[in-house]
Amino acid sequence: MKPKIKILATGGTIAGSAKISTQTTGYTAGAIGIDELLNAVPEIKNFANVTGEQICNIDSKDITDEIWLKLANRINEIFSRDEADGIVVTHGTDTLEETAYFLNLTVHGDKPVVLTGAMRPATAISSDGAMNLLNAVRIAAHKNSFGKGVLVALNDEINSAREVTKTNTLTLSTFKSFEFGLLGCVNNGTPEFYRTSTRRHTGNSEFDIDGLTKLPLVKIIYGHAGDDGIFIDAAINAGVNGIVYAGTGNGSIHANAEKFLSRAAAQGIVIVRSSRCSSGTVTPSEQFLSGDNLTPQKARILLQLALTKTNDRSEIQRMFYQY
Ligand code: SIN
Repeated sequence: MKPKIKILATGGTIAGSAKISTQTTGYTAGAIGIDELLNAVPEIKNFANVTGEQICNIDSKDITDEIWLKLANRINEIFSRDEADGIVVTHGTDTLEETAYFLNLTVHGDKPVVLTGAMRPATAISSDGAMNLLNAVRIAAHKNSFGKGVLVALNDEINSAREVTKTNTLTLSTFKSFEFGLLGCVNNGTPEFYRTSTRRHTGNSEFDIDGLTKLPLVKIIYGHAGDDGIFIDAAINAGVNGIVYAGTGNGSIHANAEKFLSRAAAQGIVIVRSSRCSSGTVTPSEQFLSGDNLTPQKARILLQLALTKTNDRSEIQRMFYQY
């Protein structure tokens, strides 16, 4: 019996359509539906019994917390009803790593969940979408992929949702896990794993989004020369629950911004320091929490989920060191 794989489509360039086959920018992302995507890769049926479902059809820059909740709830429902042995999510590459990390923390169980996308639209010569989709299905259907957390698979490479980031605006080899490297790769169609992420995820995650209709409001504020803290002031006035400060170097904060962050913390807003460097750990400080080595955009997601459970700073710091 072939494994049952469910494909949940959300849009992106993998479902993108351009006017001519040589066009690789300026096209419409999220233009093609799941049936058309599947019909374009009939080889998939050789490896799995595949069914598709359209969750949304958007350019992933427009992703929302509501779509994340819908997607994670649907995946948990599919697994609890035993409707699939593994799941593939097709997604735009711009925020793919964020959706992957959100699912890594909110999907429960050990069955594979694999996110894939494409850098060239479906209509382009040598589009990467078809092979990425086929590979993602083969990974989701493979016994080696169980218990690895949510996986990101493009360009024959398999990365961990926690560690991967989009590093280049245009190239096919854009997804990298800077400090830690790949989990594995797809060698002539076979997924091979060489390491695992040691942080808590999926079946071992304490976060539960069942029944939630929205997430706490957390903003990222980007540190820079001449920072005057006015965005922090605006965030306080907007009623945020948390702020991730993407500081310079080791999460350092401009003296002008620090005054505003201290005021925010005194009002009960949880502040997490991360770094605008693309890799490296932010070491702890007295006043604010450390985002460990998460990118600011992933620290924001973990802080949102942490705030659904507690406002206790030491508890939230524990979470940053465990997930
Ligand atoms: C998007 O993120 O939806 C557009 C860009 C892409 O998928 O590569």
